[in-house]
Amino acid sequence: MSDSTTHEQIIQELSVAYWMELETVMNYISNSINLDGVRAEEIKKSLAADVAEELNHAQLLAKRIKTIGGTVPGSQDFNAVQSSLQPPAKLTDVVAVIKGVIDAEDAAIGQYNKLIQLCDGVDYVTQDLCIQALGDEEEHRREFRGYLAEYESA
Ligand SMILES: [Fe+2]
Ligand SMILES: [Fe+2]
Repeated sequence: MSDSTTHEQIIQELSVAYWMELETVMNYISNSINLDGVRAEEIKKSLAADVAEELNHAQLLAKRIKTIGGTVPGSQDFNAVQSSLQPPAKLTDVVAVIKGVIDAEDAAIGQYNKLIQLCDGVDYVTQDLCIQALGDEEEHRREFRGYLAEYESA
């Protein structure tokens, strides 16, 4: 595979990660507001706090896309995929949202790992950005796995 092919792939995969972050922002906002009940309060606060962090990831990815010669896509290129993060049928169903968050964090972790491998030996700055973001997503997932353990045992 030539370097230019890899370069194009990196821009393409950065765009995928960018959309993941923005869809996560949308769904963390909605779930941080939609949920009802005493048991939902901590989850709502945690999701509301994560919005800024995920938005920052999106902005860093966009900046990197531009820096390496790509164009940050517009909204008409967006395809929603986070089916498990849609508003739950029952708005007190905190466990459904926690599971959806874990799915979203898993997907982001997978995408950043893919990028880290793709960048190896080719683009260390993008690789470093993805390593930082990967660490953040692993922390988010750990946090929500902890919530899941607690909420499922209650
Ligand atoms: Fe993120
Ligand atoms: Fe995250």
